[in-house]
Amino acid sequence: MSDTLVSAATEARQRAFAPYSGFRVGAALLAEDGAVVTGCNVESASYGLTICAERVALVKGISEGRTRFTAIAVVADTERLTPPCGACRQLLWEFAPDATVTLANLHGLTAQFTMRELLPHGFDASLLT
Ligand code: THU
Repeated sequence: MSDTLVSAATEARQRAFAPYSGFRVGAALLAEDGAVVTGCNVESASYGLTICAERVALVKGISEGRTRFTAIAVVADTERLTPPCGACRQLLWEFAPDATVTLANLHGLTAQFTMRELLPHGFDASLLT
């Protein structure tokens, strides 16, 4: 399955809108119902409004009624693999706490982590009581 997600993320990366950074990222999430939801980074001329590929995929899935995800792949064209930023880790924690996170580049290098490894002691709704 991680191969499927890496392929989907690689394809999504081609649609990245990243004219300011030139740093193109693709993401693909596996929803609990088996659907694959993709995203790419979308940058704004007001730079701070930029949205990462991971969060684009998440909000696409959530807006379609999918709120639980079991795996994600993130693809960028870097020698060192690109992990999700802190903001994305928070959102992923809330909707994909048990997910396997596969990082990949365009040359076949991959690495896998769990969300718990990427965000230990995460904050979520269970703490809002
Ligand atoms: N970016 C992502 O889309 N995902 C990541 O995991 C890291 C960073 C984007 C945001 C911005 O468009 C560009 O990469 C440079 O930070």
